[in-house]
Amino acid sequence: MSELAGKHIVLGLTGGIACYKSAELCRLLVKGGATVQVVMTDSAREFITATTMQALSGRPVYSSQWDAREPNNMPHINLSREADAILLAPASADFIARLVQGRSDELLSLLCLARPVDRVPLLIAPAMNREMWVHPATQRNLRQVAADGARVLGVGNGWQACGETGDGRMLEAAQLYEEVVAQFQPKLLAGQHVVVTAGPTFEALDPIRGITNHSSGKMGFAVARAAREAGAEVTLIAGPVHLPTPRGVRRIDLQSAREMLEATVSATAAATVFVATAAVADWRPATHSAQKIKKDGSGQPPVLHFVENEDILQTIAQGQRAQSGALFCVGFAAESENLVAHATAKRERKGIPLLVGNIGPLTFGQDDNSLLLVDQSGTRELPRASKLSLARQLVAEIAARLPTKG
Ligand code: CTP
Repeated sequence: MSELAGKHIVLGLTGGIACYKSAELCRLLVKGGATVQVVMTDSAREFITATTMQALSGRPVYSSQWDAREPNNMPHINLSREADAILLAPASADFIARLVQGRSDELLSLLCLARPVDRVPLLIAPAMNREMWVHPATQRNLRQVAADGARVLGVGNGWQACGETGDGRMLEAAQLYEEVVAQFQPKLLAGQHVVVTAGPTFEALDPIRGITNHSSGKMGFAVARAAREAGAEVTLIAGPVHLPTPRGVRRIDLQSAREMLEATVSATAAATVFVATAAVADWRPATHSAQKIKKDGSGQPPVLHFVENEDILQTIAQGQRAQSGALFCVGFAAESENLVAHATAKRERKGIPLLVGNIGPLTFGQDDNSLLLVDQSGTRELPRASKLSLARQLVAEIAARLPTKG
């Protein structure tokens, strides 16, 4: 993992019990290849020691604007100029209010105010009690800091250290890490709305059993994450999989191919890109038994009849939006052999501009893969890499093929 190699992050801690998560966050940022400069307010030091943060970041922590270690005695200028991003985690209600007012009587608020706004993004991970979070003053302040150019990363929901349950928990370290990584991805799909289908479908036979396949959904989830990192609004339509939703992605969970078709038709009505990674069942049982199908004692297995599921990708690709060029459709092809020939034929059969081929048994459930891109001009291989890395490359390929706006 070196996604943050070369990046220098100022990690600012303010007063809140969520400071305990900032230790893990610091570790993740360092593991990701970033250099991390921790800055703590006096209140933050009540919750976690500077020693811990120094040990994890490998750098002395700054807490005072009078820190004489800086030759020019201007840590607020030096620290904010060196940074590729400033991340406030946790950001307390009080500290956010201070940002709104542009206060600068201690180092962290001072360096936030002094940061070059165009070059150094300010990411805010609020953390507070649920009543404080929903208070109009807090919400007003959050809108104001966002209007002033900060990126508010949202909060989690659940059990709070005060014993109450609700919104206001700081996001988990891994989620914040994902947001920092996303911050640095090129915004190739800004203004686009991307719909992704992912995972298998489940075609029920009775309330207990059904037909499905080995698709893990990992590639589709990676595409959704990469598209969101690239600045798109993303809707992820997922069959039954056990994967966490990428940050900032709208997810619709469903089971059958018919449900997936319905959700996709509706989601693509306003989309500009459709990526069909789902391993949709080609057939579903012709009948669905409301009760469990029991053995009848004859020793004869039941005879099952199937009907073909509608091809979601083809339906969307033949629709008015795709035909008019308003919706760019990308298909995936899972083959077991003869990839180039099958994928080339499939692209033409489905009537889509771009098809991504892979060998099914080599990818199902794996974290990495290799892909074959097929378009009207021929084929190109994306060599073996992590699914997230391939998804980012695919996003760049899609962006390059979209009609230019204006
Ligand atoms: N697909 C779909 N709806 C279906 C079947 C497939 O949207 N009912 C999409 C998949 O999401 C994928 C592409 O079509 O993007 C190709 O899927 P694949 O299973 O490889 O191909 P099939 O069309 O099923 O063709 P074949 O069974 O001949 O390989």
